[in-house]
This record gives sequence, C-alpha cells and structure tokens, in this order.
Amino acid sequence: MADLQTIIAHAKEYGFVFPSSEVYNGLQAVYDYGQNGVQLKNNLKMLWWKAMTQLNENVVGIDSAIFMHPLIWKASGHIDGFSDPMIDNKDSKKRYRVDHLIERKAELLEAEGKKAEADKLLADMDALLAKEDFAELLQLILDTKITCEVSKTSNWTEVRQFNLMFSTEMGAVADESNKIYLRPETAQGIFVNFLNVQKTGRMKIPFGIAQIGKAFRNEIVARQFIFRMREFEQMEMQYFVRPNTEKEAYDFWKEKRMKFLQALGLPAEKLRFHDHTKLAFYANAALDIEYEFPFGFKELEGIHSRTDHDLGSHQALSKTKMQYFDEDVQEKDKQRYVPYVVETSIGADRLFLATLCQAYTEEKGVDANGVEKTRIFLKLPPALAPIKVAVIPLIRRQGLPEKAREVFEMLRYDFEATYQEKATVGQNYTRQDLIGTPLCVTIDHQTLEDNTVTVRYRDTTEQVRIAIADLPALVGKEVSVKNILEKLK
Ligand code: GAP
Repeated sequence: MADLQTIIAHAKEYGFVFPSSEVYNGLQAVYDYGQNGVQLKNNLKMLWWKAMTQLNENVVGIDSAIFMHPLIWKASGHIDGFSDPMIDNKDSKKRYRVDHLIERKAELLEAEGKKAEADKLLADMDALLAKEDFAELLQLILDTKITCEVSKTSNWTEVRQFNLMFSTEMGAVADESNKIYLRPETAQGIFVNFLNVQKTGRMKIPFGIAQIGKAFRNEIVARQFIFRMREFEQMEMQYFVRPNTEKEAYDFWKEKRMKFLQALGLPAEKLRFHDHTKLAFYANAALDIEYEFPFGFKELEGIHSRTDHDLGSHQALSKTKMQYFDEDVQEKDKQRYVPYVVETSIGADRLFLATLCQAYTEEKGVDANGVEKTRIFLKLPPALAPIKVAVIPLIRRQGLPEKAREVFEMLRYDFEATYQEKATVGQNYTRQDLIGTPLCVTIDHQTLEDNTVTVRYRDTTEQVRIAIADLPALVGKEVSVKNILEKLK
C-alpha cells in the first residue's frame, strides 16, 4: 500500500481533497473536498444510506439540525465529560494529550528493549487517568523525563481538562446564557427525535434511526490528513431494542457492518474487530472495526451497546417520558420501558480515506515500445467512482466529436459521464485511470460506419467493441450499486 504522503499528494493533484483555506496557508485539521472527492464521498454516503434504510425495513433516516438545545449536551455528558487531559510545553507552546505523550514514551522504552518499564508506565498512567489525578500525572511525566518533541525540554504546564466541543452564541447577546455548541456527534439528534419518529412512523421495536451529518470536535492531535478532523461527517444509526435483547442486536450489527465494509472493497485481512476493554460506565459492550491504514490499524467504525443511558438521561433532564409501549410483551408491568440502544457510528471522511488508500494502485508493466512503465489507477468499485464513463473522440475532426457528443448525451442523464476531446486518447485514458473512471468509450471512424464503439476497462485496460445501442445496458450493469448491495444479503 502507498504511504500516506502519496495518497495526500494524489488526492490534491486529482481534485479529491484540498487543505481548507489554502490561500491563507490552510486551517489545521480542516479540509475541502474537490470535484472528484465530493462525488466519491457522496457515493459512499449514498451506499451507507441505502444499506441502512433501503435494505432494512425497520430502519428509517432523519436529518436533524446541527444546533441543538444546550441541555442536550448536559444530558449526554458532553459538557462535563467530553474532554481530554492536556499538557502544554511552555517553551514550544505545543499542546499534547497526556495519554498520547506517555504512550509515545512507552513506545520508545519498548524499542529500547525496556518492555517491563514501558508496561509499568502505561499501567501507572491508566490508574491515574481513572482517578483523574492530574497532579500525579504531571509528576509521572516529570519522573519519566518525558520531553517535548519540538523544544526537547520538560518545561511543562499543569495537566488540565480540555473540552473538545466548539461553542458559539445564539442570538444578539454574547453571554453564557446564549452559549450553544456545534454538535460533536450526530447521535444526540437521533435520541431527542426518538419519540417523534417512533410515533409518526408507527415504528415497532426493534427499529433503527439513521442519520448522516456534520460533527465538530476541537481535536488536539490532528495530523493524519482526513483521519482526524475538526469538522467531519458521521454516519450513525441508533437501534432501539427491548432491554436484555441488546446482545443479540450488537452481534447482528457487528457482523452486518463488517460485511458492508468488505462489500465496499476493503479486504477482510485489512479489517479487524477490536473489543474495548475499558467501557464507559453506561455501556455493556463496545468495539471498533479497525482498518489497516498506511499508518497502521486504526478505528474506522464504532459499535456500542449503550443501554438506556442516552434516552434515560434525556428523560430525566427534559422531564419527557422516553418510553415505548410494547404490545408484544405479555407481562403488564414490563410493557412500558425506556429502550436500550445499540449504535453503529462511522466517519464518512475516514471511510473515504480507507477507500482511497485501498483503491490506489501502482502496476508495473511494459508499454508498446517495450519500455518499463508504472500505471497508476484508482481501483474503486465502479459504483463508487466519481465519473462512471468518459466519452472520447479519437480525433477532433471528421465528424467524430459530433458523434461522440451524441453518445455522451445518451449516457449523461443516467450516469456521471464526462466528454473529453482534448489531448490524445491515451492521455485521456491515463487521466481517467488516475481518478478511477471504470469505463472509457472511444468513438472512431468505424463508429460512423457501423455505430459501434470501443469500451476500455480501467482495471484490465482490455478493450471491446460494442454497438452504441448496447452501451446504456453495459454501463448500467458495470456501475450498478446492486453489485455492492447484493453482497449484504
Ligand atoms: N456517537 C458515537 C461516536 O461519536 P466516536 O467513536 O467518537 O463515537 C465515531 O466516533 C466515528 O466517527 C469514529 O469511528 C470515526 O470514524 C469518526 N470520527 C470521530 N472523530 C473523528 C474526527 N475527529 N475526524 C474524523 N472522523 C472522526
């Protein structure tokens, strides 16, 4: 697999991802999607949406607002608990997450063959983090002589909690009472709409609510491109179940989500489950699905069994009953309950990065003159490709452009198509390979005689001649989302 720098360069060069506000030297951990990136990301989101809502009869979607009542974040625990212990180096002014700083030291110790020392350091850290003993955490950093990677000094501030939520003011007056937050997750918009959807949709438990939307976190350590951003998109689904049936739902979604990622072309050997050993106090199971990025196995998606924590907290704070009346339960005293929730949560940007890393292919071969060449192409599943089909006249004369435009016109309503007449056909093939276009259609002199075209396949570079009349069916078959969604059965 290519290294991250190659992926970043490719993403920029071919219109997938640009650093935000680049003309002003960028904005840290914020990125913009370019003309091809937005198409790929939309296709990923569309497939997730279809996989969730179209293929599960008991899952429906919503789109809740980013701004929400501030008490929502009180109930969810984000105001009090969504923070990380941080420390600043006074010389370099660089801020670190305490656990990352200590973990880095442990890695160095291990590399020096001091495994026992590294293990003890991590165990001590875990114990102090659990107790939130910040004074002792600072002492641990000083005792183990941890230095800043920039200034190389151990001139540290105290350890402080740093809330990851962005805030702003709603209305004209800027004071504490008007303070609202940019949501750090989309999930709470689902919880507070649980009753609305259940009642208006006459949903029967178990059922799910899915949502795709922006989330914001003031991440401190954000250096792996779009892996960890300050503004990102989540695709989350909350599955509401009867208490004590959550284990079954958890196992069901765990397998289903793994299948989805594999159907998108991420290979089984690059995906793995990672069970959480430390659970939040309200959770009774949690795991990550990790993908092997160029920088190692990292979290791609989370699956969490959250009991009735969220609905229960909103019920307590809002004084609105978040209960469900279960007609299927025989015992009268058990008919009303606050449902338990199993959540699946994946970042659209992280899935985009995984897809791009997986698709990037360098293939060695020899050209027609026997010269060694490396062909670079994005081996995206055709349904995900930003452009599905490129229509190219062999030359820009003798009626070929006119005929090619006719073909383009025929395809463009159903498929993301592009018409390309500049440069040579070969250069166009290369260009389309680099953005992952699965099919190129070339119009030549024979086309004018017998209404046939050549279709060139991206992955094999194989070319076949077919009738123009058969093109829509061929393209449709190749790029259909069904090719992916069928694998979820
Ligand atoms: N509602 C649960 C929740 O938000 P999370 O593990 O904090 O759980 C879920 O986030 C997913 O969102 C992650 O697995 C990741 O894919 C994505 N995500 C989280 N923080 C992110 C960030 N700063 N940048 C990009 N994606 C992020």
